[in-house]
Amino acid sequence: MNLNVLVLPGDGIGQEVTREAVRVLKQVAGKFHHKLTLTEGLLGGVAIHNVGTPLPEETLQLALEADATLLGAVGLPEFDSWLPEKRPERGLLGLRKALGVYANLRPVRAYAALLDSSPLKNHLVEGVDMIIVRELTGGLYYGTPRGISGEGAETRGVNTMAYSRWEIERIARMAFHLARGRRRKVTSVDKSNVLETSQLWRRVVIEVAPEFPDLELDHLFVDNCAMQLILNPRQFDVLVTENMFGDILSDEGAVLAGSIGMLPSASIGERRSTGAWAGLYEPVHGSAPDIAGQDKANPLAAIGSVAAMLEYSFGLKQEADAVNRAMETVLNSGRVTADLKPAGKPATTTEVGEAVCAALR
Ligand code: IPM
Ligand code: MG
Repeated sequence: MNLNVLVLPGDGIGQEVTREAVRVLKQVAGKFHHKLTLTEGLLGGVAIHNVGTPLPEETLQLALEADATLLGAVGLPEFDSWLPEKRPERGLLGLRKALGVYANLRPVRAYAALLDSSPLKNHLVEGVDMIIVRELTGGLYYGTPRGISGEGAETRGVNTMAYSRWEIERIARMAFHLARGRRRKVTSVDKSNVLETSQLWRRVVIEVAPEFPDLELDHLFVDNCAMQLILNPRQFDVLVTENMFGDILSDEGAVLAGSIGMLPSASIGERRSTGAWAGLYEPVHGSAPDIAGQDKANPLAAIGSVAAMLEYSFGLKQEADAVNRAMETVLNSGRVTADLKPAGKPATTTEVGEAVCAALR
């Protein structure tokens, strides 16, 4: 198979974790005799530095032409005071929207080797295996009107949370389909005791549910869900929620996995004529400027995102499994980065990438 992949390393540790993810991608492509065509592009702060805009037209074209895009991270502290529309993050939001990747899948698994890496008690975390399905191209992140206007005490900031029925229907169906390949339970998360958007969300999810009579559906308010994730995380199988709630809950989910450096993600949209998903694959973590360039960052979220790419965009389940198994081998060996609090000397980003490649051989 010909794998046509665009690589957007982005900012901060995005550069180094992507380098290791690409190393693994090359290894797995070689092992299974696939032809890999890699293109590299600019996104985020690095794109602002080089061409003055966070999402250059060229990057957008490359992404639309690629079979899949692998992304590192975006964001740099030097842009903290910039308006949202000019910031590195806006490049990522524009890319998600342009690719139409409305479903962001964020699996959260407690690896046996990492139980002690989580600050939570082992008996709470053990056996956790859920997937957060975050709506990715609607809600507060994109709603209009938005902006800051007026002056003095009357200065006002406005954002809009809006969802249409069709946006809720398609993300609900995605969650239900995923649940069929898992433990058949869907938890929809909203704030329907306060927000109209959430009332519509819950109503539509309930209306779609009878298409999937074999599944169990329940509903939680987002505040309660934040608590349940820590109190009893094993109760969750597929959790589906709107964009902003999903952003927040998935960082909380990282605590269950031992480190945010462990969480991969797959953002997918409509199926292409080939049956594969148009996809964007990125670690859940940010650019972590405080440790950037030090070869300290955990590359496993980026490497896990490669596995997700192989599975969803290329339908290469065997290859994806091989990468996931290689990651587990490395976790069990204890050769992990500092965020996972290894007993001995922490491994570097490069060493972890090389170890995953070695385990793949
Ligand atoms: C994430 C990140 C992004 C988001 C930022 C970098 C724009 O936090 O993917 O979770 O909020 O979606
Ligand atoms: Mg986030």
